[in-house]
Amino acid sequence: MSDFLTIAGMPRQELLRLIAATRKNVPIAEGRSPNRTTLSGRVIANLFFEDSTRTRCSFETAVHRLGGQVFNLTPSGSSISKGESLVDTARNIECMGVAAIVVRCAVSGGAKMVADGVKCPVINAGDGRHEHPTQAILDVSTLMEEFGSVEGRTVAIVGDITNSRVARSVTHALSTLGAHVRLVGPPTLVSKSFERITQGPGIVSTINNLDSALDGVDAVMMLRVQFERAAGGAVSSDYRQMFGLTPQRIAKLASHVIILHPGPMNRGIEIDDRVADDPQRSRILRQVTHGVAARMAVLEMVLLETTSEKSPVTNSNSPAEHRIEV
Ligand code: NCD
Repeated sequence: MSDFLTIAGMPRQELLRLIAATRKNVPIAEGRSPNRTTLSGRVIANLFFEDSTRTRCSFETAVHRLGGQVFNLTPSGSSISKGESLVDTARNIECMGVAAIVVRCAVSGGAKMVADGVKCPVINAGDGRHEHPTQAILDVSTLMEEFGSVEGRTVAIVGDITNSRVARSVTHALSTLGAHVRLVGPPTLVSKSFERITQGPGIVSTINNLDSALDGVDAVMMLRVQFERAAGGAVSSDYRQMFGLTPQRIAKLASHVIILHPGPMNRGIEIDDRVADDPQRSRILRQVTHGVAARMAVLEMVLLETTSEKSPVTNSNSPAEHRIEV
């Protein structure tokens, strides 16, 4: 029994094992292979203190595919709206006998706070600006389906890097596996501190010019501007012109280059319709299928690979980040 909180600090072999399990799960996630029954008799709680479409529904679907049961708790309609804390809520839910808690929250480090407060395993489904580890697994799995390996590949991640837990987790994963990561956006949204993320043989760089950042890439991951984290003020009216992925820009890319986006997309801002829906390059909906497969892999790892004591699978190297209020 263990938590799944971060990609930071996760050993390469562990990461590769999870990605391999994810890829094996894809036919089940597509509905082409029969479901498993490994979670039969277990109830999973989805505590989503922040909005979500893909992550919440894919955790739900993953539990169903594994023969378990799942319920959702969101702030509206629960006592969270009456001021009950994250940890108190989780402790009460735990006493209902759930096997694991999946948590999404606006507080960076909130998933770790919950994990420290309960005995059952906790899975981080995105905590503030900190990490989104299952998203990293699904993104790398999608890239590996395309390229076999990500080692030596170059991935540009473009947009609101500073506020993005996706960028943080994916950068950790890709650098661990030896990919080169270019973090691209206006200086107000790309913090140089991300360059320190490198935790493996990969190289992480920051670039403020999209056109030069696209030179020689293998994949481009677009991110939306996180207006709910007050990023709007950091964006000028020429954002699309400077950092939007337009048909003109992708026309210059090599034919093998693919486009990713974790969603939700803001069409016409960071990505144009013809790019998002490009049948040759876009893997945006493929990511969603890998999302179900990745969450199945993580649920099975957390729940079936049991040790008597709860011991976190991963530990962030940067504990200070656990306390950032957003
Ligand atoms: C992301 C998130 O919530 O961090 N979405 C997701 O989980 N697929 C990205 C975002 O909200 O921009």
